[in-house]
Formats: sequence, structure tokens, C-alpha cells
Amino acid sequence: MTQILHVDSSSRSSTSVTRQLSRQLVNVLQKAHPQASLVERDLIDEQPHFVSELDISAVYTPAEQRSDAQNKAWDAINGPLQTFIDSDIYVFGVPMYNFSVPAVFKAFIDRSVIAGRTFAYSADGLKPLLQNKKAYVVTASGGDYELPGAKAMDFVEPYLRAVFGFIGIGDITFIKVPGHSEAEIEASKARALAQIEAIGAASSTHQTATAGV
Ligand SMILES: Cc1cc2nc3c(=O)[nH]c(=O)nc-3n(C[C@H](O)[C@H](O)[C@H](O)COP(=O)(O)O)c2cc1C
Repeated sequence: MTQILHVDSSSRSSTSVTRQLSRQLVNVLQKAHPQASLVERDLIDEQPHFVSELDISAVYTPAEQRSDAQNKAWDAINGPLQTFIDSDIYVFGVPMYNFSVPAVFKAFIDRSVIAGRTFAYSADGLKPLLQNKKAYVVTASGGDYELPGAKAMDFVEPYLRAVFGFIGIGDITFIKVPGHSEAEIEASKARALAQIEAIGAASSTHQTATAGV
């Protein structure tokens, strides 16, 4: 069964643009995939902790040799990681903070890109372990990084394409909501909502076609 994983990372709550639009995207995807299960994670509530020395030793120690402390650390990493691996569709709400992703989202990535689970060392070098995944990233920023001269300062899209591609999530759609003023934000939100509706319509068509209707 299809599983959708929805992850938000804005420090704002009701006024957050990424929270509003990622929720809207989840609603649309749920309509297109009525059988899908949904897992929601709020990284601000969770405050995923930064990688510790114990975490690293737990990841790189074979299961049968782990100490009790390493087992505990491994379980804390592996529970949410398994849910991440088992999910088919990702909806990430990611505001731009200082040209990159919020620290909580980076912490989430550090606990998702794990040797032996989402990528592997092989004779041919590093290889991704995830397949057949689809990701959507709803990202908001004050500035518009599509504008000439500004693109070089955007470390959200290139970083997320690189790191998720590294583990096998290559199919990523960005929904971008730039704007400083209320008018700019409203205009961007309207464009993003139209993009979200189009994603829903395309997903429904795809579902119908796959079901042979
Ligand atoms: C800590 C912080 C850092 C930010 N850094 C940037 C930035 O580097 N570039 C930018 O264009 N906007 C920046 N912004 C503006 C946010 O990206 C913008 O307000 C966006 O709407 C936040 O997403 P949200 O509405 O989901 O909280 C920053 C905002 C905060 C709170």
C-alpha cells in the first residue's frame, strides 16, 4: 500500500506558508491516492537531535556487537528511518533559512542518510538503496531565487536534489513560494496552489490509467 510521509520544518505555526501549502498538497495527494496511509512528522515538535559520537558508533557497529547504549541509540535512529524507507511519496515543507534548509531539517537528513540503510558502499563505489520514490518540496523564501543573479545563493534546491538523489530519490518536484510583501506572498501562494491542483489532477489521471479504467 502507498504511504505518504509529510514532514514540516517551519518554526512558524499558523502563519507558516510552507505548513499551509504542504498540508494542501497532502490533501490533494490523499484524494488522488485514497488508499494511501499518511505519516506526519513535525520537526519543530520533535527537535531531532544532532548526530552524536554514540550515534555514529551505533551505525557502524554490527548489530551483534553493539553495546546496550549503542542498541538504544540505534533503535532511536532506526524506528523513524524505517518509516522513511517504507514511504513512497514524500511531502517536505522546507522554508529557506539563511540560504539553506532549517537546522531541524538538516538534522532529519542526517538521520535519514545512513550507510547500509539508504545508501551502501559497494565495489563500484557508493550506491543509493531507495527506488521508486516521489518527493515534493514546498519551499518558501523572502527573495526570489529564480531571478538572474540570485540563483547562486539558493542552497535549498541544489542541496536537496543532491542529498536525496544520493540515496535514490531522484524524482523531486519543487513548489516555490517567494515573497517579502503581503501582495507578493499572496501572488506566489496562488501560483503554488495552481501547481498543487495540477499535481493532484495528474496523480489522479495516473492512478486511473494504472488501474486500467
Ligand atoms: C531564521 C530565518 C532565516 C531566513 N533566511 C532567509 C534567507 O536566507 N533568504 C530568504 O529569501 N528568506 C529568508 N527568510 C524568510 C523565510 O524564508 C520566509 O519568511 C518563509 O516564508 C518562511 O517559511 P514559512 O512561512 O513556512 O515559515 C528567513 C526567515 C527566517 C525566520
